[in-house]
Amino acid sequence: MRVIRQVPELREYRHKLLLSNRKVGFVPTMGALHEGHLSLIRQAAAENEDVFVSIFVNPTQFGVNEDLDSYPRTWDTDIKQLESVNQELASSLGSGRVSAVFAPTTKVMYPTTPPSSELNGDGSFVTISPLGKLLEGSSRPVFFRGVTTVCMKLFNIVQPENVYFGQKDIQQTVVIRRMVKDFHLNTKVNIGTTQRELDGLAMSSRNIYLGARRRKVGTVLFLALSLAEQQYKMGKLKRDEILWPANEIMTSLRLRQEELPAPNRALYEVDYISLAHPDTLEELDEVNPARGGILSGAIKM
Ligand code: PAJ
Repeated sequence: MRVIRQVPELREYRHKLLLSNRKVGFVPTMGALHEGHLSLIRQAAAENEDVFVSIFVNPTQFGVNEDLDSYPRTWDTDIKQLESVNQELASSLGSGRVSAVFAPTTKVMYPTTPPSSELNGDGSFVTISPLGKLLEGSSRPVFFRGVTTVCMKLFNIVQPENVYFGQKDIQQTVVIRRMVKDFHLNTKVNIGTTQRELDGLAMSSRNIYLGARRRKVGTVLFLALSLAEQQYKMGKLKRDEILWPANEIMTSLRLRQEELPAPNRALYEVDYISLAHPDTLEELDEVNPARGGILSGAIKM
């Protein structure tokens, strides 16, 4: 496994693999790796001879008041985890391996203009609209512009046959699929299932921000979405019929928290609970079972 920091070196290595007919699967990350990332890497290794992983905390997808400076950076353990995945992969026949970790600096990724997190800041950006403005994008206006911009750069550098994204960030997968389609990028977008903690909370590099109380109450989001999913599986197709138990549990648990003494409570605000079209992310009044729909949500704690 080689660590590459410069674009020409990565291109040269990638070119060699191309000449020997080896397929590359690419997993972009911001590091602080956990089982969610590793599951995508294993999936990529099952489907490609070589897996490239990028580790780059991308400044343009953080808003000005967000956690760019405090975002967890755990380089040494990241590399150890990748090496141990490789050991595991070496013993499974026919499987690929992580052959390159691309870890560029900000200057390498943004060579001319300093990266701007201002919505009206200068720079070269990829904007996918309106997909990037909905849901997560409505409270984080620069987020998807940053994600698509950095992914366009990374895809151009790595030129992967396959790219892998996690369903946990479902809107990200929809936006990336649209970008690949609209810009005729020569890569296939693959989606990996969400890896969860035992109590249902989706694994995330940011979960360390939650204290014990909020960590526990945060599982309400998974519970709410699961209840809504159950309604759909029972044959309900109308929006209200699918979403009511989700809204109900969100409200009742919030009220229960309010009743607790201040030091024991973990309050939250529901940002959105959405039932949306899988390609346009427009809110659905009714699900067409042939197409399905995306249930997603966000709460602020
Ligand atoms: P990051 O949050 O590091 O996530 C990297 C990839 O891992 C994303 O595709 C994400 O959806 C996936 N992932 C995270 N947690 C997961 C979980 N619990 N189960 C399954 N997959 C999970 O997403 C980003 O970085 C950035 O926006 C990036 C695409 C790298 C662009 O900067």
